[in-house]
Amino acid sequence: MTATNQDLLTAQHRSMELGIRGLVDGSGSRRELTDAVYLLRRHIYVEEAFLFPVIELDQRRLMALAQMRYEHGDMWPHLESALDLLTAKAPLDDLLPASAALLNLLRIHDRKEEEAIYSVADRYPADAASPALAALLATNGIPANWKCRYAPG
Ligand SMILES: [Fe+2]
Ligand SMILES: [Fe+2]
Repeated sequence: MTATNQDLLTAQHRSMELGIRGLVDGSGSRRELTDAVYLLRRHIYVEEAFLFPVIELDQRRLMALAQMRYEHGDMWPHLESALDLLTAKAPLDDLLPASAALLNLLRIHDRKEEEAIYSVADRYPADAASPALAALLATNGIPANWKCRYAPG
Protein backbone atom coordinates (compact mmCIF):
# COMPACT_ATOMS: atom_id res chain seq x y z
CA MET A 1 0.00 0.00 0.00
CA THR A 2 1.34 3.43 -0.88
CA ALA A 3 1.70 5.95 1.92
CA THR A 4 -0.67 8.92 1.74
CA ASN A 5 0.52 12.53 1.85
CA GLN A 6 -0.85 12.65 5.38
CA ASP A 7 1.24 9.62 6.39
CA LEU A 8 4.42 10.97 4.82
CA LEU A 9 4.13 14.43 6.34
CA THR A 10 3.23 13.10 9.77
CA ALA A 11 6.16 10.67 9.69
CA GLN A 12 8.48 13.58 8.94
CA HIS A 13 7.14 15.46 11.96
CA ARG A 14 7.94 12.52 14.22
CA SER A 15 11.37 12.03 12.76
CA MET A 16 12.32 15.73 13.04
CA GLU A 17 11.07 15.91 16.61
CA LEU A 18 13.08 12.79 17.48
CA GLY A 19 16.29 14.10 15.91
CA ILE A 20 16.04 17.48 17.64
CA ARG A 21 14.89 16.07 20.99
CA GLY A 22 17.96 13.81 20.97
CA LEU A 23 20.21 16.83 21.14
CA VAL A 24 18.13 18.46 23.87
CA ASP A 25 17.98 15.38 26.15
CA GLY A 26 21.48 14.16 25.32
CA SER A 27 20.40 10.85 23.76
CA GLY A 28 21.10 11.85 20.16
CA SER A 29 24.03 12.74 17.98
CA ARG A 30 25.25 15.57 15.81
CA ARG A 31 24.41 13.47 12.73
CA GLU A 32 20.78 12.98 13.84
CA LEU A 33 20.38 16.66 14.65
CA THR A 34 21.89 17.66 11.32
CA ASP A 35 19.52 15.38 9.42
CA ALA A 36 16.54 16.67 11.39
CA VAL A 37 17.35 20.35 10.84
CA TYR A 38 17.90 19.94 7.09
CA LEU A 39 14.72 17.91 6.92
CA LEU A 40 12.81 20.64 8.74
CA ARG A 41 14.01 23.29 6.29
CA ARG A 42 13.01 21.18 3.31
CA HIS A 43 9.70 20.23 4.95
CA ILE A 44 8.74 23.88 5.50
CA TYR A 45 9.71 24.68 1.91
CA VAL A 46 7.57 21.87 0.49
CA GLU A 47 4.63 22.91 2.66
CA GLU A 48 4.76 26.58 1.76
CA ALA A 49 5.74 26.28 -1.89
CA PHE A 50 3.63 23.25 -2.90
CA LEU A 51 1.11 21.98 -0.37
CA PHE A 52 -0.32 25.17 1.16
CA PRO A 53 -1.26 26.84 -2.16
CA VAL A 54 -3.46 23.83 -2.93
CA ILE A 55 -5.07 23.74 0.53
CA GLU A 56 -5.66 27.48 0.20
CA LEU A 57 -8.20 26.84 -2.57
CA ASP A 58 -10.51 25.99 0.33
CA GLN A 59 -11.32 29.35 1.95
CA ARG A 60 -12.22 27.69 5.23
CA ARG A 61 -8.56 26.74 5.72
CA LEU A 62 -7.17 30.28 5.36
CA MET A 63 -6.94 31.04 9.09
CA ALA A 64 -5.22 27.75 9.87
CA LEU A 65 -2.77 28.27 7.00
CA ALA A 66 -1.92 31.78 8.18
CA GLN A 67 -1.22 30.44 11.65
CA MET A 68 1.00 27.68 10.24
CA ARG A 69 2.95 30.22 8.17
CA TYR A 70 3.47 32.52 11.17
CA GLU A 71 4.71 29.59 13.21
CA HIS A 72 7.18 28.67 10.45
CA GLY A 73 8.34 32.29 10.67
CA ASP A 74 8.94 31.84 14.42
CA MET A 75 11.02 28.71 13.73
CA TRP A 76 13.07 30.15 10.89
CA PRO A 77 15.69 32.17 12.87
CA HIS A 78 16.36 29.18 15.15
CA LEU A 79 16.63 26.92 12.13
CA GLU A 80 19.13 29.23 10.44
CA SER A 81 21.09 29.59 13.66
CA ALA A 82 21.29 25.79 14.07
CA LEU A 83 22.42 25.38 10.45
CA ASP A 84 25.11 28.06 10.85
CA LEU A 85 26.42 26.39 14.02
CA LEU A 86 26.39 22.94 12.41
CA THR A 87 28.27 24.27 9.39
CA ALA A 88 30.82 25.89 11.72
CA LYS A 89 31.16 22.55 13.58
CA ALA A 90 30.32 24.33 16.84
CA PRO A 91 30.26 22.26 20.06
CA LEU A 92 26.93 20.52 20.67
CA ASP A 93 26.32 22.62 23.81
CA ASP A 94 26.21 25.71 21.63
CA LEU A 95 23.38 24.11 19.66
CA LEU A 96 21.20 23.63 22.72
CA PRO A 97 19.35 26.98 22.72
CA ALA A 98 18.32 26.77 19.05
CA SER A 99 17.42 23.09 19.38
CA ALA A 100 15.34 23.62 22.52
CA ALA A 101 13.52 26.54 20.89
CA LEU A 102 12.80 24.51 17.75
CA LEU A 103 11.56 21.55 19.76
CA ASN A 104 9.15 23.72 21.76
CA LEU A 105 7.81 25.36 18.61
CA LEU A 106 7.47 22.03 16.81
CA ARG A 107 5.54 20.50 19.70
CA ILE A 108 2.94 23.24 19.35
CA HIS A 109 2.97 23.46 15.58
CA ASP A 110 3.03 19.86 14.44
CA ARG A 111 -0.12 18.56 16.14
CA LYS A 112 -2.15 21.56 15.01
CA GLU A 113 -0.89 21.21 11.46
CA GLU A 114 -1.68 17.49 11.40
CA GLU A 115 -5.26 18.18 12.43
CA ALA A 116 -6.00 21.29 10.38
CA ILE A 117 -3.95 20.70 7.23
CA TYR A 118 -2.69 17.13 6.92
CA SER A 119 -6.21 15.78 7.33
CA VAL A 120 -6.83 17.24 3.85
CA ALA A 121 -3.29 16.91 2.46
CA ASP A 122 -4.44 14.31 -0.02
CA ARG A 123 -6.09 17.12 -1.99
CA TYR A 124 -2.55 17.71 -3.27
CA PRO A 125 -1.75 17.62 -6.18
CA ALA A 126 -4.40 19.87 -7.64
CA ASP A 127 -3.41 18.96 -11.20
CA ALA A 128 -1.52 16.28 -13.06
CA ALA A 129 1.45 18.58 -13.74
CA SER A 130 2.33 19.00 -10.05
CA PRO A 131 5.21 16.89 -8.73
CA ALA A 132 4.24 14.17 -6.26
CA LEU A 133 4.60 15.19 -2.64
CA ALA A 134 6.48 11.98 -1.88
CA ALA A 135 9.15 12.93 -4.43
CA LEU A 136 9.36 16.48 -3.11
CA LEU A 137 9.74 15.27 0.44
CA ALA A 138 12.39 12.71 -0.48
CA THR A 139 14.92 15.26 -1.72
CA ASN A 140 17.03 17.67 0.27
CA GLY A 141 17.98 21.32 -0.11
CA ILE A 142 15.90 24.37 -0.99
CA PRO A 143 16.33 27.05 -3.67
CA ALA A 144 19.12 29.55 -2.91
CA ASN A 145 17.97 32.42 -0.69
CA TRP A 146 14.50 30.95 -0.21
CA LYS A 147 12.92 31.85 3.11
CA CYS A 148 9.53 31.01 4.49
CA ARG A 149 6.89 33.71 3.96
CA TYR A 150 6.99 35.19 7.46
CA ALA A 151 10.69 34.79 8.21
CA PRO A 152 11.75 37.88 10.15
CA GLY A 153 13.96 40.48 8.50
FE1 LIG B 1 4.52 23.29 9.07
FE1 LIG C 1 4.73 20.12 8.84
